[in-house]
Amino acid sequence: MASIKKRIVIVASGSGSNAQAIIDACAKETVNGSVVKLISNVPNAEALTRAAQSNIPSNCIDHKIFSDRDSFDVALAEEIDAVQPDIIVLAGFMRILSDEFVAKYLGKLLNIHPSLLPKYTGMRTYQRALDNEDHEHGTSVHFVTPELDGGPVILQAKVPVFEDDTVDELASRVKVQEHKIYPLVVNWLCNDRIALIDMKAFFDGQELPECGYASD
Ligand code: GAR
Repeated sequence: MASIKKRIVIVASGSGSNAQAIIDACAKETVNGSVVKLISNVPNAEALTRAAQSNIPSNCIDHKIFSDRDSFDVALAEEIDAVQPDIIVLAGFMRILSDEFVAKYLGKLLNIHPSLLPKYTGMRTYQRALDNEDHEHGTSVHFVTPELDGGPVILQAKVPVFEDDTVDELASRVKVQEHKIYPLVVNWLCNDRIALIDMKAFFDGQELPECGYASD
């Protein structure tokens, strides 16, 4: 018997292509959940338009109207709690969250970061990979913990870096993979196959290695 669908909130700052992949996967029932709200901190974010087009309730909490990070995070948490989600998915959310916020949702909070963590935490990951003449780049889905981009990795996808790549070309190649692996991991959390225990990621009760599931 299929388990009850999990309630998912997506938080996004930008174009929302990962949010769209998750919304679509829920609609196709390849994710055992439903997106009950999309929240953005950017008033004109394309993610909000995508939510509207998919009939997903959405709201903007503009971080610029808050005097500090903590008060924004309190407002964001109130908006999240109003729909009582099981899972909170950061999908291109470009704000650092306070330790209190992260602690409140520990084990329920996922992020996707465009690098093969632990390499290239922070910003400009594509440019840094190109500057270093890396032969491969990629993306990581991880549980969020208080350490920025430092939570345990659940799944990564790698792509090749070609000699004449631009940032945009590399980003597009990575995003194709993101749209595959993020819904997959969200579904694992919906089906309680992954868990965060003692700040480590587990899959079907087995602790995952540093680079996540089936890493080489
Ligand atoms: C994604 O590539 C995601 O990995 C990245 O933002 C992009 C959002 O794209 N996230 C971060 O950089 C978080 N540090 P989208 O809005 O099209 O989903």
